[in-house]
Amino acid sequence: MKLTKEDIHRLDRITRLNIINSVVGIKAANLVGTLSEKGIPNLSMISSVVHLGSMPALLGFISRPARDVQRHTYSNILATRFYTINHVGRAFVENAHYTSAKFPEGVSEFEKCRLTEEYLLEFPAPYVKESKVKLGMKMLEIIPIKLNDTSLVIGEVQQVFAPDDAIDKDGHLDISLTENVGVSGLNTYYELGRIARYPYARPEELPDL
Ligand SMILES: Cc1cc2nc3c(=O)[nH]c(=O)nc-3n(C[C@H](O)[C@H](O)[C@H](O)COP(=O)(O)O)c2cc1C
Repeated sequence: MKLTKEDIHRLDRITRLNIINSVVGIKAANLVGTLSEKGIPNLSMISSVVHLGSMPALLGFISRPARDVQRHTYSNILATRFYTINHVGRAFVENAHYTSAKFPEGVSEFEKCRLTEEYLLEFPAPYVKESKVKLGMKMLEIIPIKLNDTSLVIGEVQQVFAPDDAIDKDGHLDISLTENVGVSGLNTYYELGRIARYPYARPEELPDL
């Protein structure tokens, strides 16, 4: 396949969406849990979580445009500031996928998709019980991206939960042990296997490559 910008513009919407979404490669599959102002739980598949810094511990994700459809995750975070990020595990990947359906306001994806709400250490947003790695987040900033009406939602990590046996003495989390999955495009899920770990790369310490 070889495409120019003009070819990309000419593609039909679905083909363009599938190509441009999947050329990025594998992204982490996460579920974002929130509560509405009225206390109704909401859960949404999000694959755009990105690390922004460790001190303070900041993560961002891209929220799609809220102009034509209601974005419950986005409006709940605006209203309450708190949310959770829960890694999707192999055992419940299908349930997790269907949280992306556009359920009406007031309907809980936890209930519809048979996932379990969990409240830990009095955190004011629901975690996903089935998830082995989960983070409690507080929204600090929302950066509008004018180019396409999306927003970068930035939050600080408040709580981390992960199985002890999946974290080594230096703090690395082995996501192959927690059976987290990756996603390509918007509907193809992959298992993740660890293939290597290298030391911090320094120009003067190059091995024989
Ligand atoms: C694999 C996958 C990844 C997704 N990633 C994102 C994302 O990063 N940002 C986003 O706004 N929506 C993303 N979505 C779409 C949301 O899951 C979907 O719009 C959902 O209906 C939002 O629910 P809400 O209105 O309850 O927030 C993704 C969907 C799928 C299937």
